[in-house]
Amino acid sequence: MTYKEQLDMNRIPQHIAIIMDGNGRWAKARGKRRGEGHIVGAQALHDTMMNASKLGVKYVTVYAFSTENWTRPDEEVNGLMALLFEKLDLSIFMDNDIRFCVIGDTDRLPEKVRERMHYCIAQSAGNQRGTLTVALSYSSKWELTQSAKRIAAMVQEGTMSVDDITDKTIDETLCTSFMPDPDLLIRTGGETRLSNYLLWQCAYTELYFCDTYWPEFDEEALCKAIYTYQQRERRFGKTSEQVAEENDNK
Ligand code: FPP
Repeated sequence: MTYKEQLDMNRIPQHIAIIMDGNGRWAKARGKRRGEGHIVGAQALHDTMMNASKLGVKYVTVYAFSTENWTRPDEEVNGLMALLFEKLDLSIFMDNDIRFCVIGDTDRLPEKVRERMHYCIAQSAGNQRGTLTVALSYSSKWELTQSAKRIAAMVQEGTMSVDDITDKTIDETLCTSFMPDPDLLIRTGGETRLSNYLLWQCAYTELYFCDTYWPEFDEEALCKAIYTYQQRERRFGKTSEQVAEENDNK
């Protein structure tokens, strides 16, 4: 039986976050330039978004370009920006009822990428079937620093007191305030770290690491990740017995 056939369609994660790793190694293993890995990776992103949406996943949030990626060779950075510009196609979002969002320090992106990005964000804002969020020029440390500055400014202006600051205040000042926390985080490419991605939001997220390079991440690989997630018990700090009792009372 395939993993797809084994999925419990009543327990599909609402939000999947993805670290799309392994494009460079996929390309190198085939004697190609790293940029070719990113091109095939962009197709894998398109296919994964469609497959996730068909399964009923409401939010997909992908790490496409980290704050640290700005330090890669100019040729690779420019290639990734050109690819982003080329792949930001509004019709894909409109035809599939997908809302497009971006999180990150987008002021650093080239102007033409920013313009097309804002156009896709505005035009797709009313789409309901799912939300694709792309993290661009993003890192959790950058995001949490922004959050701290915004909260400090509110305290300084007198619109908030220090005692009023809760974890909800931080949730509301992060770029992800419009989405629920991820239920499942998938990292492809064999590394087992979070690389400065959604560190606050993943406090209780189930983590799934696989060796598959991102360009080869297909529907069955996605279903395997979701199947593995469905085998786990999410306790959010409670005991197994408490979780069972809560489920019985539902
Ligand atoms: C990590 O692989 C991947 C990236 C830094 C870029 C991911 C970008 C895409 C999949 C294209 C996105 C396109 C759009 C339209 C959003 P790596 O290069 O670090 O791989 P390696 O670890 O094998 O070197």
